[in-house]
Amino acid sequence: MAVSELRRLRKNQSLRDKVSEVNLLASDIILPYFVVEGKNIKKPISSMPGVYHLSIDNLLKDIASIKNLSSVLLFGLATSKDERASQSYQGDAVLQKAIRAVKKEFKQLVVISDACLCGYTSHGHCAIVREKKPDNRQQGLDFIDNEATLKVLSKIAISHAEAGADFVAPSAMMDGQVKAIREALTNNSFSDVGILAYSAKYASNFYWPFREALDSVPQFGDRKNYQMDFRNSDEALREIEQDISEGADVVMVKPALAYLDIIYRAKQNFVVPVAAYNVSGEYVMIKNMGKEAESLAFEVITSIKRAGADFIITYWAKEVMKWLK
Ligand code: PBG
Repeated sequence: MAVSELRRLRKNQSLRDKVSEVNLLASDIILPYFVVEGKNIKKPISSMPGVYHLSIDNLLKDIASIKNLSSVLLFGLATSKDERASQSYQGDAVLQKAIRAVKKEFKQLVVISDACLCGYTSHGHCAIVREKKPDNRQQGLDFIDNEATLKVLSKIAISHAEAGADFVAPSAMMDGQVKAIREALTNNSFSDVGILAYSAKYASNFYWPFREALDSVPQFGDRKNYQMDFRNSDEALREIEQDISEGADVVMVKPALAYLDIIYRAKQNFVVPVAAYNVSGEYVMIKNMGKEAESLAFEVITSIKRAGADFIITYWAKEVMKWLK
């Protein structure tokens, strides 16, 4: 048999395009933004080259400049923090204002808002922390008050829905968070608001650049007693199954690159849309490739789709839009 049989289909670009199995679409891509108070602010984030803190006016300009952008994920930077994340659910906090402004200007854009406490708590955890001696905290005893956190997450979700978010995206990894948010939304006449659940969110070192960007580095301990252990994958399916039963519309695997097997299993096992978050550390790692960075990013983002992701959250969104024909 001729050895060139498979190569026949790789002869030129048009032929390769014709037989390609997976192609990125603009509608697959979600761009995250970090929004800050103020006017005309575009401040580089040192841990994430090419990514900026933007004030709302500049956020609107940036979105308008990206042709075919269909969806954004918004994070807000707190102006004051406390133990109970009080600013996280204020209607006039910067995230809520940004959701309102974006929805007003771009009616067709799918606006997703991150629902978490870590950017708003003085201790940097994604949860309400129990009163305990610091040494208990360091030993990793359960310092997380799951129930109290669910109440705050519900308030956050309602405030985002009031501002006009299409989807709220709970990322605190508290048990029962999707159920609590779904009930809160329904009871407040927001049953049309979707939940994009960070279902299989791992305790990952890939988040470090983001934590600097959002100023959410935990001040003691780590997130390992709420985020998942990277040695596990069956557990990811249990998380996803539970979130679907609690009312999630879309489930997410995060990070993406070192977790392509989880994305694959999620897609094979469930019939809901699966999102994948190509997180900050993955972005920086590729960015550091210099002039080959963009072609590498395209390869990597395509591989996330090939593994089974229906939506991909990526800081490369602007570049992806340029590459797509
Ligand atoms: C907060 C949150 C994190 C990310 C998204 N939401 C960080 C964390 O859990 O510490 C990471 C995103 C990224 O790295 O790009 N709950």
